[in-house]
Amino acid sequence: MKHLLDIESADVGFLLKVLNTSEIFLKVLDQPSKKLPTLKGKTILFMFLEPSTRTQISFELAAKRLSADTVNFSPGKSSMQKGETLLDTILNLNSMELDAVIVRSPSPGTPHFIAKHINASVINAGDGAHEHPTQALLDAFTVKQKLGKLENLKILIVGDILHSRVARSNLFLWKKFGSEVLFSGPPTLVPEEFSRLGAKIVELDDYLDKVDVIMVLRIQKERMEASYIPSIREYREFWGITSERLKRIPERTLILHPGPVNWGVEMDWEVMRRENTMILDQVRNGVAVRMAVLYHLLVKAEE
Ligand code: NCD
Repeated sequence: MKHLLDIESADVGFLLKVLNTSEIFLKVLDQPSKKLPTLKGKTILFMFLEPSTRTQISFELAAKRLSADTVNFSPGKSSMQKGETLLDTILNLNSMELDAVIVRSPSPGTPHFIAKHINASVINAGDGAHEHPTQALLDAFTVKQKLGKLENLKILIVGDILHSRVARSNLFLWKKFGSEVLFSGPPTLVPEEFSRLGAKIVELDDYLDKVDVIMVLRIQKERMEASYIPSIREYREFWGITSERLKRIPERTLILHPGPVNWGVEMDWEVMRRENTMILDQVRNGVAVRMAVLYHLLVKAEE
């Protein structure tokens, strides 16, 4: 594979190789020097057209830990402010001999569009409500690390599914691995059509003790044009992982959240205090998983 644009079209063998290699890179991150020469001489461009903390820093660290040269494209400071189109920008960047471009965009399909016009490998770091492939990979890696397998699991994803690229990428990924995905949330944010993609739509309270993983999503206020929920208070009451609901979730059940968390809305702070809440492990593992993605696209693909 040259690009990682989405999980839906990705080859399952490639995804498994990335997860296996991530284990090796995680060990490297435990070493005092943390650095490998793997991507020496390669140049990676970060094109983040939408805010990001974890994903951008995680990709930057991954590239730097593998000794790549990194450059940043900041839309606010670029000639796009002077009216240059995305296509024109891409064609110009293409002349600078880049090896990879890591793209985050509010518009679905931007990474696919860029991949058509550039020689470099393109990695999707989140495109609108479409997909966020490396997030799903790091989620899967975190689950495998704790539960020892990827198949025959039940993964319950709760919340704003409609606007979530994380939910879509996870749905495609877990189906490829032979696990079951369940969606739960307000009907306005979990449309019935989603069952056609292969997810089972369920009532949260019926499944709190029947799944291996509960993945909680953020209410994405920035992607909501209309009012999808009556009030934040009601959302918390019906779909939040509150202290009350926490009592009905078995200790062994993993709780994940891609971040950033709206504390007190989709999740109470108390969730952070339990052993099998994986939120910070997800962030830590993200660097190793992104190192593995860069390695397989930029080194292995060339061999
Ligand atoms: C997610 C994203 O940006 O898609 N966050 C992330 O990458 N860690 C989820 C979100 O914004 O809610």
